[in-house]
Amino acid sequence: MHEHLSANLANWNERARLHATDTTGSYRIAEVLSGGSSLHAIEAGEIGDLAGLDVVHLQCHIGLDTLSLKHLGARSVTGLDFSPDALAAARDFAARAGTDARFVEASLYDAPAALGAQYDFAFVTWGAINWLPDIAAWARVVADVLRPGGRLYLLEGHPVLNQCEWRDGAPVFAYDRMTPRTQPLAFDETHTYTGDERPLTQTRTYEWIHPISDIINALISAGMRLDFLREHDLISWEFFPGMIEVQEDLFALPPGVPRLPMSFSIGATKPL
Ligand SMILES: C[S@@+](CC[C@H](N)C(=O)[O-])C[C@H]1O[C@@H](n2cnc3c(N)ncnc32)[C@H](O)[C@@H]1O
Repeated sequence: MHEHLSANLANWNERARLHATDTTGSYRIAEVLSGGSSLHAIEAGEIGDLAGLDVVHLQCHIGLDTLSLKHLGARSVTGLDFSPDALAAARDFAARAGTDARFVEASLYDAPAALGAQYDFAFVTWGAINWLPDIAAWARVVADVLRPGGRLYLLEGHPVLNQCEWRDGAPVFAYDRMTPRTQPLAFDETHTYTGDERPLTQTRTYEWIHPISDIINALISAGMRLDFLREHDLISWEFFPGMIEVQEDLFALPPGVPRLPMSFSIGATKPL
């Protein structure tokens, strides 16, 4: 396994163990275990009707959104992630919720073979594609795992926001708008993003910024048709210190700071 991938895997295994025992409320475990949903208002309002659909959740982490998609009416749900610790937690939550779900362990780029099936709806949200070096290959995976007529829903932190750091009370551009595949951005974070005070030991991660134009062109090249592109003023975690929680678990920049795009969503369909 490549050193970038193995560092990220070690970090995600550790984070999964922390998130599975989350006490900050970030992961809405209790809601999901009682048959509810962990989705935020943005994705809940944009995914459309799931009734009768076979859903695949790519990079499903500890499976809470996967189970939520079933609770919201999907016919079947399948989550895929490369972290065995995340999937152990996901399977445990599914059993405790009494929700039928399939979880598959694989690297994203191996998803079509590992899943061995196609789906009506692919769900990818909040911190997925930044872990992937090759966005064109990601888009081909999305097209491969969808049936003709199947839809992708993607919701992510905005690449312009990902270029910024918070310095002296303001966002400043710190990173290039596009990260070369072989030279990822390297970060060392001592704590996960939920506010959990338990420290991480596997602190090193490698990430990539993908411009929106690259994501869209990758989807078009993979044969997908764009249904919508939206930019949002809100993001689902406190990206900068002092952000304001304006809706449940959705944060905006503090007053006085020029509005940057915080997140974006894309709907795309695989033509019949
Ligand atoms: C921030 S989480 C995604 C959160 C997700 N939206 C949810 O429902 O909780 C990112 C996930 O991507 C997974 N991941 C990172 N790189 C991956 C890769 N190359 N292949 C498969 N999964 C990967 C991690 O294990 C982690 O569970």
